[in-house]
Amino acid sequence: MLFRKKQTTEFAVPTHIAIVMDGNGRWAKKRGLPRTAGHAAGAETFRRIANYAKSIGLKYLTVYAFSTENWKRSPEEVQAIMDLLEKYLRELIRDMEKNRVRFCFFGDLTRLSPELQAEARETAEKSKIYDGVQVNFCINYGARDEIVRAASAFAARCARGEAKPEELTEAAFGQLLYSADVPDPDLIIRPSGELRTSNFLLWQSAYSEYYFTDTLWPDFTEADLDEAIRAYNGRSRRYGGVTT
Ligand code: FPP
Repeated sequence: MLFRKKQTTEFAVPTHIAIVMDGNGRWAKKRGLPRTAGHAAGAETFRRIANYAKSIGLKYLTVYAFSTENWKRSPEEVQAIMDLLEKYLRELIRDMEKNRVRFCFFGDLTRLSPELQAEARETAEKSKIYDGVQVNFCINYGARDEIVRAASAFAARCARGEAKPEELTEAAFGQLLYSADVPDPDLIIRPSGELRTSNFLLWQSAYSEYYFTDTLWPDFTEADLDEAIRAYNGRSRRYGGVTT
C-alpha cells in the first residue's frame, strides 16, 4: 500500500523502510574523534530520521543498531553502544505520550544487560497502543541466527507432534521470525558506501529494493531519505513476474 507524502514534493511513501546505520566510525575518524562519538551522532540521526519517517506517514522503520557480529568490537565500543541504547530507551519511555511511536525489538535480547532487557521490554509493552510509525530496533540481530532459530522452533513443534514437516509454508515460516506480522521491507537503505547486506533481513529482503549512498549515517538527512524514496519510486517492482 502506498501513502502520500504530506508536505513539499508529492511522492508515494513505501510502507516499510529498513536502514543499516553504517559509517559512524568513519564519520568520527574524519573529525579526529573517538568511534563512540560517531555512535552518539548516529543515535541523533536516528532520532531525526524516525521523527521525519513518522511525519511522512511511513508505517514501519527497521534499523540495524547492533548485529550478532558486533560483539567482536572492543569492549569499550560495545559498552558505548549499549549505553547509548539504554539512554535512548529511557528517553523514549519518558516521551512516549508525545511521540506515539510503537517500538519492537528484533534480535536475541538475552545477551544484553538485565537493565537494558527490562528497558526494551517496557518500551515495547508501553508503546503497543500507539499507531504511529512502528520502529523495529535490531539489537543483537543476525538474519542467519533468526532463520536458524525459526527452523529450530518449527523442528521442536514437529518433535512434540504439534506440526508435520510437510505442513511448513513460507507464510508459516515467516511467522516464526522476529518480523512476524510485519510486512517485508519495500526499501532497504545502506549509507556509507558499503555494498553488502551484512546479515540483515535475509529472508524478508527477497524482493526489497536496495538503495546505496556514500553519505555516512551521522550525516544522513531528511533530504537523503527523500532522495532514496524518489529512487524507489522510479523502480519497477515485478516480484519475479512481468510488467503489464
Ligand atoms: C555501524 O557503523 C554502526 C553500528 C555498528 C552501531 C549503530 C549504533 C548506533 C547508531 C547507536 C545506537 C542507536 C540508537 C538509535 C540509540 P560502524 O561503526 O561500522 O562505522 P564504520 O563502518 O565507519 O566503522
